[in-house]
Amino acid sequence: MMVNLNRRQFLSLGAMGTGLALATHWGINNHNKSLVAAPSFPSSSIYRSQNGLLELTLAARYAPVNLGRQIAQLLTYNGQIPAPRLEAQPGDTVRIHLTNQFNQPTNLHYHGLHIPPTGTADNVFLKIPPQERFTYEFKIPANHRSGTFWYHPHLHGYVADQVAGGLAGLFVIRGELDQIPAIKAAQEAFLVLQDFALDNQGQLLNSSYLNLMAGREGNVIIGNGQVNPSFSLPQNGLLRLRLLNASVSHFYRLSLENHPFYLIATDGGAIAKPIELNELLLAPGERADILIQGDRAPGQYRLLNLPYNRGGMGMMGMGMMGRGSMGAVQNTPMTLATFTYGEPTRPTPLPERLLPVTTLPVAQLSRRFTLNHGVFPGMGMVFMINGQAFDHQRIDTQVTLGTVEDWEIVNTGVMDHPFHLHVNDFQVISRDDRAVPYPAWKDTVVVKTGEKVRIRVNFQDYAGKTVYHCHILDHEELGMMGILNIANLNLT
Ligand code: C2O
Ligand code: CU
Ligand code: CU
Repeated sequence: MMVNLNRRQFLSLGAMGTGLALATHWGINNHNKSLVAAPSFPSSSIYRSQNGLLELTLAARYAPVNLGRQIAQLLTYNGQIPAPRLEAQPGDTVRIHLTNQFNQPTNLHYHGLHIPPTGTADNVFLKIPPQERFTYEFKIPANHRSGTFWYHPHLHGYVADQVAGGLAGLFVIRGELDQIPAIKAAQEAFLVLQDFALDNQGQLLNSSYLNLMAGREGNVIIGNGQVNPSFSLPQNGLLRLRLLNASVSHFYRLSLENHPFYLIATDGGAIAKPIELNELLLAPGERADILIQGDRAPGQYRLLNLPYNRGGMGMMGMGMMGRGSMGAVQNTPMTLATFTYGEPTRPTPLPERLLPVTTLPVAQLSRRFTLNHGVFPGMGMVFMINGQAFDHQRIDTQVTLGTVEDWEIVNTGVMDHPFHLHVNDFQVISRDDRAVPYPAWKDTVVVKTGEKVRIRVNFQDYAGKTVYHCHILDHEELGMMGILNIANLNLT
């Protein structure tokens, strides 16, 4: 009951600027209950920086949350699913007071932000014990790219369970991309995708060891904390939809009925010009910023999740390996969200050009990373990078600050692995030796079974220890993570 009240309070707060849209949405929902579509405006609170400072408290706590069809007992920041959306600008200072109200340790990671991996910034080696409080403080560099980033816990041994319990929120950097007139004119919406394995009482289910090896997938998929959320698509206009896959293991292969869409930014920021797509694969950790044109017959269109096989069936000769708690792999399209045409607006053309993507200098060094798994006596199945499972005492890769490297990531296993690097974005150069069609900033890249992906990273600005890992967080927990040390040779 409390939760419902709170949620409604958020709703009415969020509605102040968009009262009409709000009324329309409730109208639709009340008239046609079969749609079971939730309102399109954000139900989580938004914190924006003011006078160069973004300061807030995040209380990590258990809370009942209304997902629209059921109340679930989840792990939250401030009782919200998804967690509050944070918005800052290049040059801002960020100060986050994290209170850990769980009975287990936790911490915070700022996925995709180019900030130090040390001190009170993006330091994943920090451990905030139960009932303690810690203040994160860092500065967003003045030349930081604008984009869609996110935050989630990152304490090895707890990451997957805590993210699977709901801990994830958007971290938006507003800047140059948002100033492009056609983009400014677009209506903006966010879609945070999460999935939960819940029983009938709304309690999180434990995952079997087999589930964890495959990468757990939940039986309830939500967008912005709701089952099948609805969005308004401005007739004749443009909708800018910024997507985040905050699931532990679920891949989403997205397609919008009757509408192609236009990719304008990937994980780390804008691409050079919009790219038309009919579908988009979004692996755990990845983001995409797309424009949708409201140029079809007004009506309702579904955002579909098309079937996708990320591998792992029958792995290790264990026979059929169930994925979610339902034990089934999706084989028909499923509705993730509903888009309804709104009032006609002034036609907004697509932008012709976005922002130039810097060409990285040729790499000084190239290395190879092999992703695989194996069974070890007494350890069960271990997921490895270069034949080794994660060890927090060991530095796996040492690079020199100020240099550019090519990393060749080879997947010799039987499942796709989304490879993720902290602190520095990279550009994908080639897949199986074929150059990619356009440069883009990424921090997470899917490496399919048997595939070889070459990425280029410029290790700039920040020295220190950080990590790279598979963003199927269950694989990360089972060992598929390595420690990177970025050494500043000028200091020694
Ligand atoms: Cu989103 Cu190391 O993670
Ligand atoms: Cu990350
Ligand atoms: Cu993996």
